[in-house]
Amino acid sequence: MSVSQTQPGFLVTTSRGLDELLKQELSELCPDAELAIARGGVRVKGNLQAAYKVCLWSRLANRVIWILNEGNAGTAEEVYDSARDVDWSLHFAVNNTFSVQFNGSSKAFNNTQFGALKIKDAIVDHFYEEDGSRPNVDRDVPDIVISGRLHRDKVLIGIELSGGSLHQRAYRQDAGLAPLKEHVAAAMLMRSGWATNMEKPLLDPMCGSGTLVIEAALMAMHKAPGLGRPRWGFSKWLGHREGDWQALIEDAKSAQIQPDVTLFASDIDRKLIAIAKQNANEAGVFELIEFNVIDATKFTPPAAITEPGYLVSNPPYGERLGELTELIPLFAQWGEQLKQHWQGWQVSLLSSNRELLRLLKLRGNKEYSLMNGKLECKLVNYQLD
Ligand SMILES: C[S@@+](CC[C@H](N)C(=O)[O-])C[C@H]1O[C@@H](n2cnc3c(N)ncnc32)[C@H](O)[C@@H]1O
Repeated sequence: MSVSQTQPGFLVTTSRGLDELLKQELSELCPDAELAIARGGVRVKGNLQAAYKVCLWSRLANRVIWILNEGNAGTAEEVYDSARDVDWSLHFAVNNTFSVQFNGSSKAFNNTQFGALKIKDAIVDHFYEEDGSRPNVDRDVPDIVISGRLHRDKVLIGIELSGGSLHQRAYRQDAGLAPLKEHVAAAMLMRSGWATNMEKPLLDPMCGSGTLVIEAALMAMHKAPGLGRPRWGFSKWLGHREGDWQALIEDAKSAQIQPDVTLFASDIDRKLIAIAKQNANEAGVFELIEFNVIDATKFTPPAAITEPGYLVSNPPYGERLGELTELIPLFAQWGEQLKQHWQGWQVSLLSSNRELLRLLKLRGNKEYSLMNGKLECKLVNYQLD
């Protein structure tokens, strides 16, 4: 009996505010799968092939969890029983290490460690009953990551195929104080409109470690974001089909193109531009981006740009103590500069401080709420006329 034929599909998680966009992306990646928004992401009724495709290609996903069981979770015993119903020997061997990630809380579980412990106990008891030995837990580099996700009085138990969050693309060697998460940068490019108009110039005048332009270059190259990932959660999983996975990798390699794009990135901080260049080099997109040290409040469209395009950025929001007062004149001046010199451009800005964006005195035409890590942010689109 093949593992995949017996399973109810998988859950793809993302940050709050990105679930609709993720659903759109998944409908293109897995056109035959049934999709539904679920707590924390999108539930996919699809096969293992579809799950692999999401691991390799999704720019918006965090984790891909192959569902093994769902059950009641009103009490600790019910969670234990739901985990005990899984035939764990079908999924990994007793000499593999594992860890349990538990997410969510309820009256019975106000501590995620306790939920993880119940699932761990059920797994260990399964193996012990079967052949008198038990697998070891490894919290740092486990062979298998089990995910338990609690929602109200139900628990979903699965194997984390992604092996950690997919937003970590492995190109970011270093960053400034407040780097954007890579999947949030990808979401900004999609929400700004540039992702469907890549022939237009794209510019980030406060680029920090370069996440936005690097993600843009990877999109334009059709480079699968998972291609550089060193570890996967399925490598030691008994349900893994290496042949199917390798076929997807080969397809992804041959899908890459050398795009004709205009990407500009600048920042006032020379050290950050050096870091951004290093990250772009690591991502294999250095040649596609022009980097400069420029003060955004004095910046006018570069001469090489012959038509208005997209200015997408994540300006400072006062991450350092006492910085907020310095930012007031910066935003006021930048707003003036944008109005005077950037007519015709589409501007998309992400900030956790909506008041700072108001200082630009620009009229936003669309606004989205989303999380960048623990920060609740607004992404505001403006059309400069
Ligand atoms: C929130 S960070 C951007 C982080 C970036 N998106 C990343 O992924 O690393 C804001 C950036 O704005 C830059 N900045 C602040 N004032 C500036 C100015 N006047 N002109 C250009 N850049 C500026 C800072 O140096 C910082 O790198």
